[in-house]
Amino acid sequence: MHDDIDLDENCDPNNPRKIRYDDILAASRRIMGSVIRTPCTKAHMSEKLGMEIYLKQEFLQYTGCFKERGVRNTLMLLTEEQKKYGVIAASSGNHAIAMSYHATQLGVPFVVVIPANAAVNKINKCEKLGAKVIMHGANIFEARLHAMGISKEKKMLYVNGYDHPNVIEGQGSIGIEIIEQLPSVDAILVPVGGGSLITGIAIAAKHLKPDTEIYGITTDKTCSMVEALRKNERIKLEIDTTIADGLAVNMVGVNTFYNLKGVVDKMIVVKEDWVARAILHLIEDERYLVEGAGAVPVAAIMAGLFPNLKGKKVVCVLSGGNIGTTVLSRALERGMAAEGRLVKFKVTVNDRPGGMADLCALLAGIGVTVRDCIPERAWVKGDVFSVEIRVICETRGWDHTKEIMEQIKKHFKEYFFQDMSERTDKNAGTRRGPCLAPNPVCMQK
Ligand SMILES: Cc1ncc(COP(=O)(O)O)c(C=O)c1O
Repeated sequence: MHDDIDLDENCDPNNPRKIRYDDILAASRRIMGSVIRTPCTKAHMSEKLGMEIYLKQEFLQYTGCFKERGVRNTLMLLTEEQKKYGVIAASSGNHAIAMSYHATQLGVPFVVVIPANAAVNKINKCEKLGAKVIMHGANIFEARLHAMGISKEKKMLYVNGYDHPNVIEGQGSIGIEIIEQLPSVDAILVPVGGGSLITGIAIAAKHLKPDTEIYGITTDKTCSMVEALRKNERIKLEIDTTIADGLAVNMVGVNTFYNLKGVVDKMIVVKEDWVARAILHLIEDERYLVEGAGAVPVAAIMAGLFPNLKGKKVVCVLSGGNIGTTVLSRALERGMAAEGRLVKFKVTVNDRPGGMADLCALLAGIGVTVRDCIPERAWVKGDVFSVEIRVICETRGWDHTKEIMEQIKKHFKEYFFQDMSERTDKNAGTRRGPCLAPNPVCMQK
């Protein structure tokens, strides 16, 4: 009984579906005008990173993510009967939001089952866009099982957000657009969670321009596709919290895993620190707000994982921009700290009038911005007229940070600098370059 409920006939491990270019082309025509043909323009960061980087701006979709493409295609292919009964999904992310928007536009009833641990703003967004939200289960597995049960009982079509064949075909429209927008592209870098985005893009791009290299990018905390390729079978991974929550899928799709072998050249794993830095640089250099999942291709280039693409034309798919303000502010701080632009230290100064002013004058003279300055008197060793100041300040980078360290060392006797090991683009990266087969994956060291 349980197995029966759990079976999604569109994503059946015993009967994976072949995804064909012709169906992707048809999907791309079908959804034209209902989703945005997003720009794919040259990045300002190209010169700095030593390749011609083009950014495919999927975060510009109405709901902030490429997921609209697959959803729209699936909804437009429903039979009259399916439209009447409606559709159902289990998701707490971009898939649910895209479904809510397009189902409402097309007048199709949509139910989304969201697990209890989902963010309140996502739940509100789905409801606002017209979905019926059911909160059920402690995690996405329990939510999915509940949704499958309702789908069978109420004859609603269950739409898997990363594995339904029509979803994969819709995402493939991005591949067609990229080849049209940049016919001489050498490589496309695609974020990977459950695999619909890369599978669709790879099939389309390899059909239209077979020598295009396709790389899947994920983080060290979202390795389901990497492990599946290593073991040559879909396995279930426990996934912790991650800055790239859009990629947090415990088990990759049946159809995606079946179809991507042979069209994807390699999976590349980048560390989360670099994702924070990529979010920061996409804002600073390009003025783009991109979520963690969408920033992984740029993160991988910044981390030095693509020495083989120097001087080449490389498209990074910026898949989404739905990042909450809390995560955004943390990502920016982490990114700045990782680049030596946020420095933290403790220094003991004289606690008589003017002691603290001397420290501030010294910092002002070097041209740093003081973010935080907290005095500590109780646990300080030495004489009672000393105060330990914990300082956090913004600098222009490593050289500027070194200048502060030298000045503090010169003017004060007691000080402590936090984790000042420099991590530059040069010494980041990997010992194994992202060479093509036989090794299907490449981990950042
Ligand atoms: C912003 C973003 N990027 C990438 C992905 C990964 O897509 P896929 O699961 O098709 O691999 C997702 C999935 O939800 C996403 O929301």
